[in-house]
Amino acid sequence: MRLDKYIADTGIASRKEAAKAARSGLVSVNGETVRDVSVHIDEKTASVIYCGAPLKREEFTYVMLNKPAGYISSTEPGAKTVMTLLPEEFTKMKMFPCGRLDIDTVGLLLICNDGPLAHELLSPRRHAEKTYGFRCCPPIDTDSARELEAGVDIGGYVTKPCRVQLSATGDSGEITLTEGKFHQIKRMFSSKGSEIVYLRRLSFGGIKLDESLKEGQWRRLTDGEIETLRSAGAASGQAEN
Ligand code: URA
Repeated sequence: MRLDKYIADTGIASRKEAAKAARSGLVSVNGETVRDVSVHIDEKTASVIYCGAPLKREEFTYVMLNKPAGYISSTEPGAKTVMTLLPEEFTKMKMFPCGRLDIDTVGLLLICNDGPLAHELLSPRRHAEKTYGFRCCPPIDTDSARELEAGVDIGGYVTKPCRVQLSATGDSGEITLTEGKFHQIKRMFSSKGSEIVYLRRLSFGGIKLDESLKEGQWRRLTDGEIETLRSAGAASGQAEN
């Protein structure tokens, strides 16, 4: 693998920045200063130091995006997808959105290239918890909220039990699901004669949306967050078995 790609994949710098640092003598491979980042290195064994820091190249990459409205949760080339909000490198690294948010839904979207973990978190039998903030119109009453919690028919499918916290005015709140049918929350509210006018995912698999990210911004997950996701995938699996 090319040295600049290796460095960029760790997330510490772009390829351009890596080339600049190397020209300044700030990159070494196996103890030797390397000034040309086009050289190929063995990514499995190389010991790379970048600006004094030893680099650790992870097998998988995980980022959280604060998804804005107007973007689709797919990797379709040429479409206005969430991938267009991320560096091109990530598409080349075969990253994909872990689950879908509707085009008008905003908030936490996990994007990764860890197929097995995504499968654990999303498989119908192993769904992890997802919490959304919502606004609805007209407001619903507490009886309707309890019915949503118990499960409602959204057109040939009865939803699993969930949690709803309703504001005193009944026009906003939070809902936590363990499944993700197409337009599920919108259809649940529709069954109660109300329309979802705003939907924002606040958490997924134990990971909370980083409130310092503005819509359209992203960051890599911390090691702790990756651990949390892994145990959410494993724990939700155990609950079903
Ligand atoms: N439910 C919906 O209706 N839309 C989403 O984007 C997510 C959950």
